[in-house]
Amino acid sequence: MSDIERAAAVLHRSRPVAVFTGAGVSTESGLPDFRSPGGLWAGGDPMEVASLSAFRRRPRVFYEFYRTRLAHLADARPNAAHEALAELQAAGLVGPIITQNVDGLHQAAGSKEVIELHGNLREAACPDCGWTGSVAIITEALAHGVAPVCPDCGHPVKPNVVLFEELLPADAYRRAEVVCRGAGALLVVGSSLQVTPAAWLPEIVRDHGGTVLIINDEPTAFDHLATVLLRGKAGALLPQVAAAALAHRQRETPAEHRNS
Ligand code: OAD
Repeated sequence: MSDIERAAAVLHRSRPVAVFTGAGVSTESGLPDFRSPGGLWAGGDPMEVASLSAFRRRPRVFYEFYRTRLAHLADARPNAAHEALAELQAAGLVGPIITQNVDGLHQAAGSKEVIELHGNLREAACPDCGWTGSVAIITEALAHGVAPVCPDCGHPVKPNVVLFEELLPADAYRRAEVVCRGAGALLVVGSSLQVTPAAWLPEIVRDHGGTVLIINDEPTAFDHLATVLLRGKAGALLPQVAAAALAHRQRETPAEHRNS
């Protein structure tokens, strides 16, 4: 049996199946990841551009980093990997998608239940008074060469993403933990699994008796946990896994129950 078939068989027979994605699921949409050569952290220290201290003390550098990311995101569309996951979710073969990504591409592909562990780039947030609103307040201010400020309290606003020196949104992480404790399998796609606490989720699944599958271009920090390990591009592999899993289900569903 090929690794694609083995992955499909695990997805087909495990209930419920959760998904955990990282930046590698979006590289084929033209968005760089963080730790690959040419990734966002390859050019320097992330603390310099994506930390709370950078936001407070080096706003020019901070906003320039996010201005570029927002500009890239404006042109980005879901790729075959996002679409395959949305198809699997719509078919009921996978449940919640837990993501470290802030790009919203799972939702753009049609996925419904998405748990965003590191926030999102759709919104702006004011760390001083708690206001949140559309990220347009940032893009528009930067286009006019001024610093974006909170409409409620007048302090600077940031994209509603988790910065270095900030905690993960507690509710999202709690939901992800609950999902992983109850998961029959976790499909990990496109993450180096180097950033905790999110990177502990595959271990939580294994500790509670679930199966871990990993699809990634390079080795990850937790490959030893994986029952099935597919090395390569998510945009090529996931549609094959999805097609094989759907075929499994089709074979085992009595004809009279199909499409009902
Ligand atoms: P990384 O950049 O650390 O890892 C991305 C992984 O995806 C790498 O191992 C790549 O080999 C792999 N990859 C890239 N393109 C791929 C493709 N087309 N198909 C399959 N695999 C591919 O990104 P994350 O693990 O998501 O946090 O990083 C986690 C967190 O670190 C991010 O959310 C961000 C960063 O610091 C914050 O900013 C808070």
